[in-house]
Amino acid sequence: MACPQKPSLPAHLAQEPSDLPPNTHPLPRTGQLAALLTGLRNKETSRGAFVFYADRVNRLLVEEGLNHLPVLEKCLEYNGVGFEGKICGVSIMRAGESMEAGLRECCRAVRIGKILIQRDEETALAKLFYAKLPEDIADRYCLLLDPMLATGGSAIKAIEVLIDHGVPQERIIFLNLVSCPEGLRAMYDAYPQVKIVTAWVDEALNEQKYIVPGLGDFGDRYFTSR
Ligand code: PRP
Ligand code: URA
Repeated sequence: MACPQKPSLPAHLAQEPSDLPPNTHPLPRTGQLAALLTGLRNKETSRGAFVFYADRVNRLLVEEGLNHLPVLEKCLEYNGVGFEGKICGVSIMRAGESMEAGLRECCRAVRIGKILIQRDEETALAKLFYAKLPEDIADRYCLLLDPMLATGGSAIKAIEVLIDHGVPQERIIFLNLVSCPEGLRAMYDAYPQVKIVTAWVDEALNEQKYIVPGLGDFGDRYFTSR
């Protein structure tokens, strides 16, 4: 008997861009993920629905990010494993704060630091305003949170701050919802040991340094739009 045909994604959605840097770990391109991204990209999506879709993708990102943490064998009544080290989350404000809830759902009492970085609306250059991080951050694995990776300027500045606070780059995992080849390449050139877990790699940046097709201004859509 012939197998029923499997539902498949249209070719342009199924195809990951080639030549991604080796520190990039995209989520598998499933139909579910593609549908969530379609909802996020739609300009007609209300803020409530946008938050719902984004939170679902964030949860997938956190679960995958945790897979990159080392585990040690643990012997109880049976042989198992446990996480090797302590972790913390660090959100790049404002948009990165939207990912904190997903992290807390998976890691109950996780400590969370904040770094306020804003892109200049004219030049797209990232400016650091403020950082407040856990005192013992140098002893922790850091899950750095920001849903958008465009030029990479904001994430690179945030990683500079973490490194200044004693966190080695190989203990940083950047969780990101939409990225593009330009930003991924800039991150790899600056910090090749930082792992990047991204839900979707888009095509490119436009002249305004916005991601194409992208989803517009994530922070506005998640926090302040109608
Ligand atoms: C957005 C986004 C990233 C940054 C990405 O933040 O959340 O932090 O831009 O762009 P880049 O890779 O070119 O630096 P924005 O500064 O607009 O602030 P917001 O979080 O308040 O929206
Ligand atoms: N910030 C966003 O929110 N979207 C982009 O496309 C680029 C930067």
